[in-house]
Amino acid sequence: VNLADIIATTRDRRALTSLQIQRLVTAATDGTAADYQLAAWLMAVVLNGLSDQETTALTLAMANSGERLDLAGLPKPWLDKHSTGGVGDKTTLVVLPILAACGMTIVKMSGRGLGITGGTIDKLESIPGFRTDLTPEEMKDQAERIGIALSGQTPRLAPADKALYALRDVTGTVQSIPLIVSSILSKKIAGGAEKVVFDVKCGSGAFMKSHDDARALANSLMTIGAEAGLQVACLITDMQQPLGRAVGNALEVQEAIDVLSGKERGRFRKLCEQLAGLALELGGKVEKGLGKQHAANCIDDGSALLKLDQWFQAQGVHVSVVDPQFSLPRAPAKQEVLATARGFVSAIDAEQIGSLVVELGGGRKTKGDAVDPAVGVVLHKEVGVLVEKGEPILTIHARKDEDLIPLTDQADRAIRISSNAPAVPDVIKEVFKSQPRD
Ligand code: URA
Repeated sequence: VNLADIIATTRDRRALTSLQIQRLVTAATDGTAADYQLAAWLMAVVLNGLSDQETTALTLAMANSGERLDLAGLPKPWLDKHSTGGVGDKTTLVVLPILAACGMTIVKMSGRGLGITGGTIDKLESIPGFRTDLTPEEMKDQAERIGIALSGQTPRLAPADKALYALRDVTGTVQSIPLIVSSILSKKIAGGAEKVVFDVKCGSGAFMKSHDDARALANSLMTIGAEAGLQVACLITDMQQPLGRAVGNALEVQEAIDVLSGKERGRFRKLCEQLAGLALELGGKVEKGLGKQHAANCIDDGSALLKLDQWFQAQGVHVSVVDPQFSLPRAPAKQEVLATARGFVSAIDAEQIGSLVVELGGGRKTKGDAVDPAVGVVLHKEVGVLVEKGEPILTIHARKDEDLIPLTDQADRAIRISSNAPAVPDVIKEVFKSQPRD
């Protein structure tokens, strides 16, 4: 394979054939391509883009670069859910039990958090006993029994993505829609999904800061997903303020349990109902327009909580989440952050809260760091509410008292209080149910 030709083709904005893309991906996977050649091509893609046809070919070549999970024998529809990542995003822990309680099969691979965006695997590992290292055989067997299996990513699926992502991370080439889309979709296809619901986050705590950027990503996920043979639906959701009350691994698990127990009814539950509803409609389980109500019913009748319990126990947790013996790690030091004036909460900046939780030890600065499952932030107010001076806005949960002083200042900077009521964006910013037009 002549990689110099391939690089020059993209550099000159000419189209690569599917065969050229296939060869490039094979060379990235088997190590015959030099890192500098791959990096040069990646930068050419960042600068010049790829056509939809090229992006589809790249997606399929990456999906086929390793093993593919064979879900044959499991009840259909096979559905996956993917979030582009945010602060306080524990949606998977609520949505998966709803879908499985409604008869869907979800075999999901999730990642760890990096930077300010948390990861589902870190959240689940905060639960004593929870196993996140299921083999493909265990996943299939468990999904057959209870409808859900979730494990950490294996390098055996889509290894080309692993090789290319590692280079992108260190060469300033992560931010490219064709590269992001092919990276995400190839892993979904290799994981056996036929249908995928996407939650594209938008705002300071997300990868995509503006609605236009989020819309471009959502459009491309819809278009390339369909070209690659998936059925796809997508939400764009707000990530300007953290999602829900809790940010931090064990704190978020507790919040997910509280939502499924019917104790929480705010923006986070609304997002979960909408996303699960979209998935139920995509999966043909309910008629169009009825998904959200159906999802809400599964929470209200307790069936989704029962499913969460089955899922946790299947993956090694010894006690029910409703048993008084069930306990999650708790941080020993706490500090409330109070409103400095009377007025409306006009901002709780997701990015700053996310980085505060990383400082507490709840997230990673580099890939190998350990995370502290107990630390985090619990918000008592959301954007738009009126508060009195001195009312608690949030509580910081820390490992030790010394951590609290500098972080209280940082929390203060994340919060804005104004005399006028702010416009509060809906948590759901846009819904894509079918193929969008260009
Ligand atoms: N998530 C992925 O899996 N890949 C990307 O390129 C970006 C985010």
